[in-house]
Amino acid sequence: MKFFIDTANLKEIDEARSLGMLDGVTTNPSLISNESVSNQKEIQKHYISICERLKNEENVSAEVISTDYDNMIQEGEKLSLLHPRIVVKIPITKNGIRAIKYFSNKKIKTNCTLIFSTGQALLAAKAGANYVSPFIGRLDDLSYNGLNLIREIKNVYENYHFKTKILGASIRNPLHIIECSKIGIHAITSPISVVYSLLNHPLTDIGLEKFLKDFKKKIK
Ligand code: E4P
Repeated sequence: MKFFIDTANLKEIDEARSLGMLDGVTTNPSLISNESVSNQKEIQKHYISICERLKNEENVSAEVISTDYDNMIQEGEKLSLLHPRIVVKIPITKNGIRAIKYFSNKKIKTNCTLIFSTGQALLAAKAGANYVSPFIGRLDDLSYNGLNLIREIKNVYENYHFKTKILGASIRNPLHIIECSKIGIHAITSPISVVYSLLNHPLTDIGLEKFLKDFKKKIK
């Protein structure tokens, strides 16, 4: 399973790279607004800096702000020209679906975001999205089962051999990552803090402490 990092923060991206856990980056308008950027030029420079940190097949999802079709197209085209690693992130709306179809015809990669239902994921795949981002944590927050949505989408995509990749998003805890890997989706996108929490096990801490204590008792 691929590990994408859900951040626009360059330090966090470098940290994920140094951990060997970086297959791609996803951003959204809220994450971008947390960085020191205050106008379009600075945002574009920031996306380029993220792209330059990536390698090989890795990519970065950059979301359009516009909601009307013409501006979505204009914005998405501009974003895609910034760097070959950019994947244009588009919300699942009527205009969003039309825009995804347009970009798919032009071979510009898209990530269809804000997916909360199987029907939305089906439409995104039919429009030719390269990725869909179902938001697991935000569904869980409302007492829906986010992981069930992932299972359903995987099932539907397999029924029809859709090529759209499932990118599990809104990851809040290590179990979300583990369950996604058991379901067998292409990738998750997670804050780096949740990736670190996969490391935690009290028996590892106790075991390491004992190994070092035993070693230091006998060996100078
Ligand atoms: C996905 O692409 C979004 O950027 C993200 O995963 C949303 O996560 P949140 O619900 O924790 O904000």
